[in-house]
Amino acid sequence: MAKKIFYSFLAIIAVLQLFQPDRNISTENFKVELANHYSVPDSIESLLNTVCYDCHSNNTDYPWFVNIQPIGWYLQGKINKGKSKLNFSEFGSLFKEKAIEKLENIEEVMKKNTMPLTSYKWYNKNADLTIEQREMISKWAINLSKQIASDSTAALNADSLPVKPL
Ligand code: HEC
Repeated sequence: MAKKIFYSFLAIIAVLQLFQPDRNISTENFKVELANHYSVPDSIESLLNTVCYDCHSNNTDYPWFVNIQPIGWYLQGKINKGKSKLNFSEFGSLFKEKAIEKLENIEEVMKKNTMPLTSYKWYNKNADLTIEQREMISKWAINLSKQIASDSTAALNADSLPVKPL
């Protein structure tokens, strides 16, 4: 009896593997990407890239165990949800007010230490941010939000500005 249950369990797990979640992968360099649109220091961009982009961009660097179901579904669910709330790959397409609101949200999650998700820290060792790193992101986010509020053109990445006629 126990053997039968065990084999049925194995069979179910095997069948689950046939249903892989859709992957969030794109190599496109979007014009509306955060750092293409706004002026972002390299240090911030690389930090966000390492600890946030897996769930908040159009391109996730997947761990190997995404291939194992149902773990992969769980992971993909978090990615889809995170991306639907905040997507750095398309940040430049947000209206001014929305961009300010999202930047304020970033400041808040850094202060409360609720991002990245705890489960993410289990497999990405770089994701356990130090207080200094959280302060760095927090300060940057609030400064950029203030800059967008007072003069949104000055906040733009110089490369993304339209060329002025002479
Ligand atoms: C493992 C996936 C994952 C990682 C990594 C991650 N997040 Fe999130 N993030 C989420 C999910 C899921 C939500 C939605 C939370 C909810 O409402 O349940 C979220 C929500 C947010 C929100 C709230 C957005 C809103 O409009 O409500 C902010 C801000 C945020 N994340 C910032 C960050 C920052 C900054 C980083 C990197 C330091 C980061 N996140 C890393 C998954 C992630």
